[in-house]
Amino acid sequence: MITGKYPSLRLRRTRKYDWSRRLVQENNLSSSDLIYPIFLMDGKNKKQPVRSMPGIYKYSIDQLGSILNNVVKHKIPMVALFPSTPINKKDKLGTEALNENNLVCRAIRFIKKRFKNNIGIMSDVALDPYTAHGHDGLLKNSYVINDETVKILTKQALIQAQMGCDVIAPSDMMDGRVGKIRKYLDKNRYHDVQILSYAVKFASNFYGPFRDAVGSKKSLKSDKKNYQMDFSNINEAIREVALDIKEGADMVMVKPGLPYLDVIQKVKENFKIPVLAYQVSGEYSLIKNGIEKNLINKNSIIESLMCFKRAGATAIVSYFALDIAKKLSFN
Ligand code: PBG
Repeated sequence: MITGKYPSLRLRRTRKYDWSRRLVQENNLSSSDLIYPIFLMDGKNKKQPVRSMPGIYKYSIDQLGSILNNVVKHKIPMVALFPSTPINKKDKLGTEALNENNLVCRAIRFIKKRFKNNIGIMSDVALDPYTAHGHDGLLKNSYVINDETVKILTKQALIQAQMGCDVIAPSDMMDGRVGKIRKYLDKNRYHDVQILSYAVKFASNFYGPFRDAVGSKKSLKSDKKNYQMDFSNINEAIREVALDIKEGADMVMVKPGLPYLDVIQKVKENFKIPVLAYQVSGEYSLIKNGIEKNLINKNSIIESLMCFKRAGATAIVSYFALDIAKKLSFN
């Protein structure tokens, strides 16, 4: 592939000037590549810092208007909603997940009414924000049971679709849930609601700050290894994606992000489907703390996001999305 050799061949030539570096740049980052996650809390006029995520807050629904105005202004195509459910509404069965007036449902209605189809709304399907034990499904003898959980998830998905959710995102890692959800949505005439499957979700140690934010950290007594994937595996990741595509997923997610770029690349190589990456809470906090302590500089954020693009990600869920989109629009 390489023709010529040093000293006539010099790869530094194209790196000499900014215009030239821009000219040969192989990947690009724009606001349209970003998805902004938002934490919700009960109450009025509330903006509460998330302790383990500097710069990130939980908001009551009445605060969403101004945030979403910014999101739309900076051309971020979609937000992802995550509820911090009050502890007294959590129980063993995650009953609150099926309440049409739960935090997420109210937020979806609020956003749809105000912003119509000018922004996409994505919402997780999983029980962990609602269960007292913090697991994504129902527990029997401390094992998360699959089929009974999937029954509830299909109902949760339909309710969110009825509220106006555009993209249903099952993040629970139960077997067979994508197919069941697709069928149930279609049966109820929600054919146009998309499914973004968290197809490859690893049992990761990088989710800690998120669990703190949604209040599942204290309640979670064990790990999620009997349903989320072993971080040593990649063939299994391909099988998960193949299955979810067959079952009707429109897009797939790989999660966490930066330590799993090889997985993103492999999935992208094997399947011609949008592959999203999730730069999770632990990754966010590591970078953010590093910047605040002056260990690394701010451009590390853009670098991390560009690396996802280089690996082949179609879009990235990132807690940095809004800050970075503001910067990108002036570029
Ligand atoms: C739960 C869910 C998790 C995240 C998104 N949805 C955590 C978990 O599986 O325990 C993590 C996101 C993050 O760390 O930013 N279904």
